[in-house]
Amino acid sequence: MSSVRDTKTFNRTAQFAEGWYWALPSRALRRGKVKPVQLMGRDLAIYRGRSGRVVAVDAHCPHMGAHLAEGRVDGDALRCFFHGWRFEPDGACSEAPQLEQPPRACLRTWPTTERHGLIWVWTGPEPRLPAPCAPELEDVPVRWAHGNRFVKGTHPNVVMINAIDAHHFNTVHRLVVDLDFETTRENAHVITFANRTRVPTTRWLLRQIGRFYAGPLTYSMSYAYASSGTVTVGPDLLHCHILFALRMTPEGHTEGQTVLLTPRRRGPLGWLFDRVVLFATKLVGNYFAKGDTRIFQTIKFDFQTPTKADRSIIEFIRHAEEQPAVAWGTWAPVEATTERPAGRALPLADAPDAGPRDDEGAPREVEVERRAAEAVGA
Ligand code: FES
Ligand SMILES: [Fe+2]
Repeated sequence: MSSVRDTKTFNRTAQFAEGWYWALPSRALRRGKVKPVQLMGRDLAIYRGRSGRVVAVDAHCPHMGAHLAEGRVDGDALRCFFHGWRFEPDGACSEAPQLEQPPRACLRTWPTTERHGLIWVWTGPEPRLPAPCAPELEDVPVRWAHGNRFVKGTHPNVVMINAIDAHHFNTVHRLVVDLDFETTRENAHVITFANRTRVPTTRWLLRQIGRFYAGPLTYSMSYAYASSGTVTVGPDLLHCHILFALRMTPEGHTEGQTVLLTPRRRGPLGWLFDRVVLFATKLVGNYFAKGDTRIFQTIKFDFQTPTKADRSIIEFIRHAEEQPAVAWGTWAPVEATTERPAGRALPLADAPDAGPRDDEGAPREVEVERRAAEAVGA
């Protein structure tokens, strides 16, 4: 059984949730160019064909292993630098100079997509859903701008749960509203945590702010594939969206790219308005990123004492553990870690004394689980 502490996918480096992972900005790959990319432990060559199509292939040529990013784009195909074999976008070898027939060699290809100015690669044979987006922007034209590119000295999962760590908004970010999240499973791979508390009316300024919200203070975080997430904030009239596209480095740290999103408004005035909104969104993102940086530099995440205030984090961990996972580097599927219907809590261990107590007297695993179950009201 997987627990909130003894996890297989969450905050681990040997495996990760299968999904879309950002590879590079679209503008960094012009037509006819090929680039080497190391993504989730796998060496890839990603190229843009003459038609504009983006193709991701395993980096090493199935002939003798030359790195295909040394090669050149030929139409919508890729030609190896070493002996000139030509590989079509589906990976089939269509031509080999000096040979009458092309050999039956095939290059492994991976699904790609472009969204919000990023090239994404799906770490499995078939994408199950589109690349990440804020749920409320899913079906509308979007204008985007890239924010910061960042590196954090901790696992992407630990970086991302910061956005639903309700209590730290008061302690680190000095927010005067007590956030409390409602969880919605949008589908098997997307989970959203939306604040359900209202702006307090205890002070004059807060009462003025509260006028901009008919209901609760808007703040939500929607995670896709337990790997990327989109924050939505702002008054009812104007929501700001920040996508955190994250991936793991070989050291188990985080490489991220923020993308600011807004619905695309029409005309030159619409364009100007969108630019202002995107700039304001960036400022909001920077404000929240500032306090957290100190945490990420030194934290050694170990969830020893789950509390009620950590309920959303516990739910996210369980969601992450349910995701189909693949192994770091090989991207081979690994067995599901939990088998339970969505929305129900994991059962507790039966024996209350089971599980070792460590030398420092840390709580037993069953005690950690008991607290976790209590926190989510199971
Ligand atoms: S190594 Fe690529 S064609 Fe020989
Ligand atoms: Fe934070």
